[in-house]
Amino acid sequence: MKLNIKGITIFVEDDYLSMSKKSAEIVSHRIANKPNSVLGLATGSTPEGMYKELIQLYLNKKVNFDNITSFNLDEYYPINKDNKNSYAYYMNSHLFNHVNIDKDKTFIPNGKTENVDKMCKEYDQMIYDVGGIDLQILGIGNNGHIGFNEPDVDFELTTHLVKLDDKTIEANARFFANIDDVPKFAVSMGIQNIMQSKKIILMASGEGKAKIIHDMIFGKVTPNLPASILQLHNNVTILLDKKAAKLIIN
Ligand code: PGA
Repeated sequence: MKLNIKGITIFVEDDYLSMSKKSAEIVSHRIANKPNSVLGLATGSTPEGMYKELIQLYLNKKVNFDNITSFNLDEYYPINKDNKNSYAYYMNSHLFNHVNIDKDKTFIPNGKTENVDKMCKEYDQMIYDVGGIDLQILGIGNNGHIGFNEPDVDFELTTHLVKLDDKTIEANARFFANIDDVPKFAVSMGIQNIMQSKKIILMASGEGKAKIIHDMIFGKVTPNLPASILQLHNNVTILLDKKAAKLIIN
């Protein structure tokens, strides 16, 4: 089912698998149209299926990552890139190790740097230098965060150090042995980086995301729900499974 609400294109797919296939299809079309695309990549549970589909498309010679540059949205801080919970590790294991992307052109905020401010400025600069992000992939947190832009966000920020919201720490504890092991900080692209992307895809699956999806589309644009800012972007596609779409299709 395809909807258009407030200028946002919304695809509602039957389940997580078909949502993942749809998103991989959009990404691969984008790459076919512009082989040197700059992708903004996300981590978390939601895009895992999309990455699996992209690997399959690559193995079937339907997509070629040869000339792709990528920038990840965020990384825990502090964290070593060899740590299994780092987003650097996630990207290698879920995508980069399985496709022909040039790893020298894949960028993830450095979770180990001593000089965070300098690293953030350089990250922004690298994004500007390659002409900005063509296609940004996003998940959404239960609290409405995109990247690690937590509620009460400053919409003006670019890449910056963030103190993680307690809800985010709770939500992400499932990946760690103990909740106390979840880093308390992260480095994240800011809302400004995200809003400057030429096209954005936001994905959500499962009933747990239904309310936040409803509110981000129908509610006011507010720093209390960071994803609500996407109402003001002119090229956003939201991909949902039926459960996540529950409150917008009734
Ligand atoms: P999830 O996280 O995909 O693991 O639900 C989304 C997010 O926090 O942005």
